[in-house]
Amino acid sequence: MPTISIPALALHMQADLDDNLLKVLRRSKVPIHYSCKQGECGSCKCVLESGAVELHGYKDTALPEVQRAQGLILACCSRIKGDVQLRLVDSDDYIVHPERHLVTTVIGLTELAPEVFSLRLKIRYVDREGEPFIFSAGQYAQLSVQTGPHTTIARDFSMASTPVEAEYDDELEFHIRRTPTGAFSGLLGRAVVLGSAVFVDGPMGSSHFRPRHEGALYAVAAGTGLAPMLSIAKTALDNGKLEPVVLYAGFKTPQEVYGRDELADLARRFANFRFHIVVEQGAHAGDRSGRVGDVLLGDPNSLDGSKVYLAGSPAMVEAVSAALIERGLPYGDVHADAFYAPRAVDEAAALGAPAAETEHVAAPRAEV
Ligand SMILES: Cc1cc2nc3c(=O)[nH]c(=O)nc-3n(C[C@H](O)[C@H](O)[C@H](O)COP(=O)(O)OP(=O)(O)OC[C@H]3O[C@@H](n4cnc5c(N)ncnc54)[C@H](O)[C@@H]3O)c2cc1C
Ligand code: FES
Repeated sequence: MPTISIPALALHMQADLDDNLLKVLRRSKVPIHYSCKQGECGSCKCVLESGAVELHGYKDTALPEVQRAQGLILACCSRIKGDVQLRLVDSDDYIVHPERHLVTTVIGLTELAPEVFSLRLKIRYVDREGEPFIFSAGQYAQLSVQTGPHTTIARDFSMASTPVEAEYDDELEFHIRRTPTGAFSGLLGRAVVLGSAVFVDGPMGSSHFRPRHEGALYAVAAGTGLAPMLSIAKTALDNGKLEPVVLYAGFKTPQEVYGRDELADLARRFANFRFHIVVEQGAHAGDRSGRVGDVLLGDPNSLDGSKVYLAGSPAMVEAVSAALIERGLPYGDVHADAFYAPRAVDEAAALGAPAAETEHVAAPRAEV
């Protein structure tokens, strides 16, 4: 039975041959970054100090050849082939909250813009009775809805609400773009209605607010990427952050714009908060015109000592992250969560699950 060791943390774990490395690390609550779980975002990078893993199914942009040659691997795409010794990257920066399995009830479903919904959930604690759900602003959770005796539809969504609202009010809010034929989002207003049950597993993701950082904070959102960016901006301001907090919210058309009142209210309450609504086509007077990343990069912002958080479409997140790093912002100061659509078969393989337990079709779960 292979052993996975992380000497810096004095950790030694048993694994099965061909186990998925990320799955083993998560099972042992190792504080590793991860996000997409399918070789696209590069968050789960770690250093293979010795031993053998088989890497499969990842994008070159997530692990360029030059990094692979330096011994970096992606845990989510690594099959264990023997004893392995690892080093985590930047382990000081990690905040790890225990993963919870919650049952919630829908208490709000309102349209924020055409086909973009705010979904509000009330938590009923079932896994650790009475223990609040703790997450860091910017993280996400997997929402699942049981649609039949043997089918559950699940997708990842970022919390738009703040950790404080979960801890003290037992409430979570998500912003979900509905596609009528979307397997999960198409359920909004049908299987997901006031009073229905939604399962929540999480929190997950490493693109979360870093409370100890003392420089300016830039939050860049495309579409519903505004959800985690709002959570981060509100948390930073409520925590008493004194440096500038600047939020860029990008949309394709003026009709898609939402969140304006909430952002304006934050700007009234906090002198160090500014925001820009950026619209690609037909921007109204007072809004910025263009693509959100281009506007951020074109503004005379000094990014020295700043952190930039990004969320939304993979195209925006990948392009702007790369441009920021090219401009000299350290890799560790760019925190990006791209809203990748799931690849069911690959993810099942990556996490070592049989195909029948993929995100799309899973064993039914008892409602409590
Ligand atoms: C870490 C993370 C966080 C996320 N956070 C959010 C969030 O806060 N808010 C949010 O809205 N999403 C978020 N997503 C994306 C979300 O998980 C889903 O991938 C997305 O909502 C699509 O699910 P679906 O049920 O609508 O479509 P699926 O059935 O999964 O369809 C897959 C893709 O096909 C497209 N599609 C389906 N039907 C059609 C059609 N008729 N015409 C054209 N395209 C079609 C869908 O738009 C989708 O892009 C996040 C993803 C990740 C990985
Ligand atoms: S590349 Fe492994 S979690 Fe995204």
